[in-house]
Amino acid sequence: MALPLSRGGPGASGDSRELDELEVRLLLEGIHQRHGFDFRDYAPGPLRRGIAHALAAEGVATVSGLQERVLHDPAAMEAFVAAVGVHVTALFREPAMFAAISGQAFSLLRTYPSVRVWLAGCATGQEVYSLAVLLEEAGLLKRCRLYATDMNALALAAGRRGTYPFAEVTAAAGRYRQAGGRGELTDHVLQVGGRATFADRLRSRVTWAEHNLVTDASFNDFHLVVCSNVLFYFGRELQDHVYRLLDESIVPGGFLALSDRESLGRSPVQRRYRRVVPGASVFQKGRA
Ligand SMILES: C[S@@+](CC[C@H](N)C(=O)[O-])C[C@H]1O[C@@H](n2cnc3c(N)ncnc32)[C@H](O)[C@@H]1O
Repeated sequence: MALPLSRGGPGASGDSRELDELEVRLLLEGIHQRHGFDFRDYAPGPLRRGIAHALAAEGVATVSGLQERVLHDPAAMEAFVAAVGVHVTALFREPAMFAAISGQAFSLLRTYPSVRVWLAGCATGQEVYSLAVLLEEAGLLKRCRLYATDMNALALAAGRRGTYPFAEVTAAAGRYRQAGGRGELTDHVLQVGGRATFADRLRSRVTWAEHNLVTDASFNDFHLVVCSNVLFYFGRELQDHVYRLLDESIVPGGFLALSDRESLGRSPVQRRYRRVVPGASVFQKGRA
């Protein structure tokens, strides 16, 4: 992979690029052995941007310098996880995905006395509350348990708090409607000053837990799995590994929801699923 970072750039010699690549491999190997995070098969583009960001944030000039930091300093390691994991997210970030879930999956979920939902790679939780709002408006939330997981403990802590700038809530009003929202998004939060906290009736339905899609196993079976804007960061083999893990975790007839820019495509599990509606990456697993 071409990863010109510390000494690189367009004019870098082949020799310095090779050295950069060696340093990156050693960095990722060291992190895996020391901390258990496995970034070795992440897609090169986002990985390079994450490492470049971490170099700037740590103020070190070389990837070897960054390795020294992340191996010895837990805070530097946490920052590295955030930089490479990129936890950009928003309320109702994927309106078409939510509209497909509420339009196509809710009627089946309604037939179960209790429903388990897994939101994998949920970052700071906005996606979790978005779904909880739609489930509540559909009268389904009380029978649901939402499992919200991410590898980034700091992001999860923010999700657990469920407090965001009030402006973030008002800015999401249009996407909430496109997603199938029926009321006012602001009715689901408690506003204090410029901050909004999602209502306890939503928060109480969520279990937050650290889970790494690369190194951890499946931990339950689910009627709906949402894994949006996560697989995009993975290389092909790693994507296949995670698709198998998600597939193992979905009951027959259950649903898998991905972002618009992800698809089951040529994945090893693709033949077991059908797309529920054109224009969204939401799939239903066959019952066979
Ligand atoms: C861009 S955010 C997506 C957040 C949300 N799903 C959405 O669509 O708005 C990607 C998230 O995936 C998480 N992530 C990356 N690699 C992961 C892994 N191996 N296991 C679990 N989470 C991972 C990151 O920590 C980050 O929070």
